[in-house]
Amino acid sequence: MVKKAVIPAAGLGTRFLPATKAMPKEMMPVVDTPAIQYVVQEAVDSGIDDVLIVSGKGKRAIEDHFDRNPELENHLESREEEDAREAMRRIADLAAIHYIRQKEQNGLGDAIRHARRHVGAEPFAVLLGDTIVDSAIPATQQLIDAYEQYRQPVIAIEEVPREKVHRYGIVGVKPLGGRAYQITDLVEKPSADEAPSNFAVAGRYVLTPDVFACIDRTEPGKNNEIQITDALRLLLKNQPMVAVKFEGRRYDIGNKLDYLKTIVEFALKRKEFAEPFIKFLAETVERNSGSKK
Ligand code: UTP
Repeated sequence: MVKKAVIPAAGLGTRFLPATKAMPKEMMPVVDTPAIQYVVQEAVDSGIDDVLIVSGKGKRAIEDHFDRNPELENHLESREEEDAREAMRRIADLAAIHYIRQKEQNGLGDAIRHARRHVGAEPFAVLLGDTIVDSAIPATQQLIDAYEQYRQPVIAIEEVPREKVHRYGIVGVKPLGGRAYQITDLVEKPSADEAPSNFAVAGRYVLTPDVFACIDRTEPGKNNEIQITDALRLLLKNQPMVAVKFEGRRYDIGNKLDYLKTIVEFALKRKEFAEPFIKFLAETVERNSGSKK
């Protein structure tokens, strides 16, 4: 049973400066909800009741967000805004949320290593704090199902265009049936010629504690950071691993263009905004394409 999740959220968010100078990128609002709330909700919807957030400098807003705010609750109560008060309480009661600080931003592999004591001997899910997945079945649940079937570490993958493989960790695979694949190779940011496929690692994992020894043996790579893909390549030498081409759509809110696309899509899903917002978008496109003629 996978009952624990680790959410790395300690990164500096340099691709989103200046917004992230004093604010965690994981708190960037997607319409009205911080990205990391969607991520915690996905873990909870996947049957997880214990979440460890890897936090760092300038990330206090994350802890405050998942805490009670009695003053705000009293204020909403005095204005008879019961639904809003309930919604605020529910955020604080989503799961047992724990925090550990990554003191130096030494990369995602290093952030995950901070969970070693907390996860103990159990398998655990990893959900990147700046990546939202919109799907009918929560993406982490899809990975947990594969873990239960194969009893091997599981990595979420998605197809990316060949010309973009150099931006991602790429896996080589053999089909196992359905959406599952046996991983044959793992390469961090390969050139289009070297890439074993166009399946990219997609921000969700189910790992076993064996990964920690591999992270310890991983030398810092690009930007002097310990990459989780490099550690998983070491793990693959001793341990078969599964990839799941999850059903759903991934949104990386850590870069500006994808963030803009994410808020447009999520706004269109909301009943109260869909109609006026699509009208506004159509008018905006019309006005801007007109001005370019
Ligand atoms: P990213 O590489 O997208 O985050 O890591 P970053 O380092 O903040 O990004 P840029 O390049 O500077 O803009 C994916 C997730 O892993 C966390 C991040 O907070 C993000 O949620 N992370 C990354 C850590 O927790 N620690 C690290 O040292 C690096």
